[in-house]
Amino acid sequence: MIINKVTAAYFSPTDTTRKTVQAIAGGILPEIENLDLTRPEVRAEHYTFEADEMVVVGAPVYGGRIPLVSYEAIRHLHGKCTPVVIAAVYGNRDFDDALLEMRDLLSAQGFIPVAAGAFIGEHSFGNTVAAGRPDRIDLYKCADFGRQIYFWCKDVTVGQFALKVPGSYPYKARGPQSGLVHEISADCIHCMHCVDVCPTAAISPKSPAIKDMSLCIKCQACAKKCPKGARIVPDNFVENMSARLMEMCGEARKDAKLYFGR
Ligand SMILES: Cc1cc2nc3c(=O)[nH]c(=O)nc-3n(C[C@H](O)[C@H](O)[C@H](O)COP(=O)(O)O)c2cc1C
Repeated sequence: MIINKVTAAYFSPTDTTRKTVQAIAGGILPEIENLDLTRPEVRAEHYTFEADEMVVVGAPVYGGRIPLVSYEAIRHLHGKCTPVVIAAVYGNRDFDDALLEMRDLLSAQGFIPVAAGAFIGEHSFGNTVAAGRPDRIDLYKCADFGRQIYFWCKDVTVGQFALKVPGSYPYKARGPQSGLVHEISADCIHCMHCVDVCPTAAISPKSPAIKDMSLCIKCQACAKKCPKGARIVPDNFVENMSARLMEMCGEARKDAKLYFGR
């Protein structure tokens, strides 16, 4: 297999998937292209990849699946027997059927899944569960995974791959699409950064306080990236959620789970 180009393609509201995918791609080849599917205008286009390229596709895990918007974004990627590496990034609970649905979808889109991994990223709700991950050790391991893929794929043809990943059918049901209410505190300086980082254009450019709840996917990008910490979910929702998650799955440091397709 010849790999002349590597693209890191990711949907990543709070950047943990982006860092993971970029580190893997950078381990495959030193120079990478980026396709940031977090941006709505980028997701609107279609992208085709040739057989001499490799694509690393990553999405976060929401309720054991990948978010519907990232599923739809992947439907805009088209392979021509293009090898693909799949990354699911999750907040220390579980990735359930996320890798399986990505493998199935990317296969249907003309890609050949050659390897996959489930990686840990700081949980979107708060900053206590899997805090600071992926850290330096995680990113080193991601790059090493990329290097292994490069050497391992060099001498084989795509036809030799049959990637198995965990997960089961039917996939876990997706949770209902219901946004997250934010109160805007007096610290807000109306910089509109929240508008820029919202992956679904749910926040109005007229005011940070106006949000289309039918578009909000609860990703928390607006709140986590607010320079003033001015977007607050009422009733201590985030604090309570992260305390519950901490109890359920916050303690043990989990490592990446890697799968090779031969
Ligand atoms: C709505 C929602 C649902 C989530 N569901 C899960 C889950 O089922 N399992 C898990 O371990 N983490 C879950 N997470 C945490 C994210 O998968 C994790 O924080 C991921 O690193 C976020 O990726 P990003 O930084 O690329 O946005 C969820 C986060 C959100 C916002």
